[in-house]
Amino acid sequence: MKKLIIEGKHKLTGTINIGGAKNSIVALLPAAMLTNGRSIIYNVPDISDVHMLIEMMRVLGANVIFKNETITVDNTNNFNKEIPEEYATKLRASYYFMGVLLAKYNYSEISYPGGCSIGSRPIDLHITGFEKLGAKVKIVNNKYTIKAKKLIGNDIFLDFASVGATLNIMFTAVKAEGITHIYNAAKEPEIVNVASFLNSMGAKIYGAGTSEITIEGVKELGDGIVEVIPDRIEAGTYLIIGALLGKNLIIEGIIKEHLGSVITKLKEIGCNLKIEGTTVLLNKVDKLKPVNIKTLVYPGFPTDLGQPMSTLLTQCEGESLFEETIYENRMRHIKHLNAMGANIKLFDQSALINGKTELTGRTVVATDLRAGAAMLVAGMLAEGTTTITNIEHILRGYEKIVEKLSSVGASIKLIDT
Ligand code: EPZ
Repeated sequence: MKKLIIEGKHKLTGTINIGGAKNSIVALLPAAMLTNGRSIIYNVPDISDVHMLIEMMRVLGANVIFKNETITVDNTNNFNKEIPEEYATKLRASYYFMGVLLAKYNYSEISYPGGCSIGSRPIDLHITGFEKLGAKVKIVNNKYTIKAKKLIGNDIFLDFASVGATLNIMFTAVKAEGITHIYNAAKEPEIVNVASFLNSMGAKIYGAGTSEITIEGVKELGDGIVEVIPDRIEAGTYLIIGALLGKNLIIEGIIKEHLGSVITKLKEIGCNLKIEGTTVLLNKVDKLKPVNIKTLVYPGFPTDLGQPMSTLLTQCEGESLFEETIYENRMRHIKHLNAMGANIKLFDQSALINGKTELTGRTVVATDLRAGAAMLVAGMLAEGTTTITNIEHILRGYEKIVEKLSSVGASIKLIDT
């Protein structure tokens, strides 16, 4: 089992470069198979989810090469095949193959167990979208069989601005006959990144990044090209760490418009951050003010940064309120923070955080990707040694995190026992 061993309280000085966005690349890779031609994807992060998706693409006959942060995909020998459960269990984003294979072959088959440690993760909005486009969906023991005689464009209103459903419906609609409108579409930057990739192949998608997306179906798609946008969640995590431990710490390669809510909140807390272009300079300040954080869909405060931010709130002098509104269970890190000395009262999906509290290092568990990030932030600022177990979760979403933090002065080691 892999663990992180962290000695806390090290000042961080130097530059951390932000990699490509995990929540973009996990959709861009399945999307790369929509064309019968070839695609090239630049600025790809080297994270375990990428390697898992490449494996799945090869199962479907794609020729995939990943070198120097660039992935090339050749679909000449693609074929349709059921996506086995072991992939879907390990990687939720495998559900994107539903929309891609449906668009490409009018048929897709995948075992999708749903559910994970942060919530039930239903895909009812994806399924309703496929049905609205003319598909019939059969679900037997978590195995989804989706087929369509003909895909026809339609108006689709999402009950919730779901990122996954918006993208999966988009994948299917690009090859459906006629016009599709997606209303109450997700507006996350990753949606725009994926839409620009599909448009480079010859798709006709308008309005990505707004709550109404129009898609004019096309018969064929050509070669595609795209650059993965910087990972705003990785960047936000390092902004939080820098605000707590930075001594002229530079975070390089952000798109500040993607981090508006996070930067605003950090400034409200009194953090010292200077932004110039794609660079942020961070210096620790001693007095941090309590604030309220409520996670919302984009451009609200991102749910993926609620957990790491809750660790920072333990260092604010006074009472902060952290509310999670997107998932049912993003509070599993709270008990570990309290065990390290935090003073947090939990009410279902809200946490009342009283600071400032000294944290003391101990052994804690990464229960999910962003809870793991929250524990990493805690270990970085705690007195003594913190051991984090189950860190496979963290390695899924944070490229070269040990190298990046060590390079700016952190005492952090990955051991494999
Ligand atoms: C994407 O998940 C991200 N994952 C999540 O990041 C991120 O937290 C989320 O978007 C919101 O920004 C990837 O991109 C791989 P949703 P996704 O569909 O698409 C409910 C991380 O830590 N819902 O917007 O699954 C769902 O249960 C991960 O990087 C339905 O009810 O998010 C959840 O409560 C975690 N029915 C809410 O919507 C559906 O059909 C948000 O889900 C679909 C979703």
